[in-house]
Amino acid sequence: MINILVLPGDGIGKEVSDSAVKVLEAIGKKYEIAMDIDTEVFGGKSYEKYGEPCPNQLIERAKTMDAIFLGAVGHPKFDVLPSELRPEKGLLKLRKELDLYCNIRPVKYYSGSGSKIWREERVKNTNITFVRELSGGAYYGERYQGEDFAYDRIEYSKEQIERIVRKGFEVAQMGTKKLHSIDKSNVLATSKMWRACVNDMHKEYPEVEVIHQYVDNAAAQLMSNPEQFDVLLTENMFGDILSDQGAILSGSLGMLPSASLGGAVDLYEPGHGSAPDIMGKNLANPIGSILSIALMFKYTFDRPDIAEKVEKAVESVLQKGYCTMDISSPNCMVIGTKEMTEKVIVEIE
Ligand code: IPM
Ligand code: MN
Repeated sequence: MINILVLPGDGIGKEVSDSAVKVLEAIGKKYEIAMDIDTEVFGGKSYEKYGEPCPNQLIERAKTMDAIFLGAVGHPKFDVLPSELRPEKGLLKLRKELDLYCNIRPVKYYSGSGSKIWREERVKNTNITFVRELSGGAYYGERYQGEDFAYDRIEYSKEQIERIVRKGFEVAQMGTKKLHSIDKSNVLATSKMWRACVNDMHKEYPEVEVIHQYVDNAAAQLMSNPEQFDVLLTENMFGDILSDQGAILSGSLGMLPSASLGGAVDLYEPGHGSAPDIMGKNLANPIGSILSIALMFKYTFDRPDIAEKVEKAVESVLQKGYCTMDISSPNCMVIGTKEMTEKVIVEIE
């Protein structure tokens, strides 16, 4: 029996979580895996029910699970709350308390997911694994907000850098043996430590080719020459920004899955936000969530065969010409969240 906790969260989080659960159930049926799927409020919804976005009891409950799926957090109506009570703070607390330091975000171009920006020839070979540090940097550094002055410190310990750099090397080692390490070591102290650590650890992985790039240049290169990237390793905030940018190569942010690993229990979430403007309209792209379930089987349940099955199912639906609004192109048939999910499930079955 596997135990999965689903935290739909806010906005379109509910709709894409419904898709994730349906896909989980289809997998359970086809592969005869017994599953216990629990649901709990999170983020803004948790604030409304319990007065905080991520109560301690939830963390304790999460630790007893085999995996967690999270939809999305945030809504403009919570902008007035003190920062401690905001939905996003709940997510940061969950990541921190579970010590999830390694965030994996694969960006792959599926033929059919028409890009609104790029010609297919430009992006069709895109296959980038973002390895984003998730436990430190500006997200968790000292913060101050006064009337006329504010700061957010980018803080990293050597240990925090070492453990994610090792993951980066491991992922590269298992793949094409090419690692882009992204920093801003021409300016930042944390980046200087980062680059030194990468160079040191490189001695343990001599077969891996290391390419250092400054983050501003990497942003440009992602657009001008995306094919050069295989594994892109970077710190928390650079990774937040570059992975959103990179996801556009695959058609839309709605296509981006993620896995947050290395801690008490693995957490899976689509890379997109809560998109309150389209919530409840059956317009959200569920593919980022469905591909996150694929990652769950790859990383947590050690079933790469199931992960591949799910990815192939997505690919085949897109190839048949179906798409959601965000990845629509002139020749495709636009369908809704539920319909896209059902079509993927038919392919899985
Ligand atoms: C993400 C999100 C989060 C982040 C927000 C919601 C705190 O943008 O998962 O990329 O910045 O990490
Ligand atoms: Mn983000």
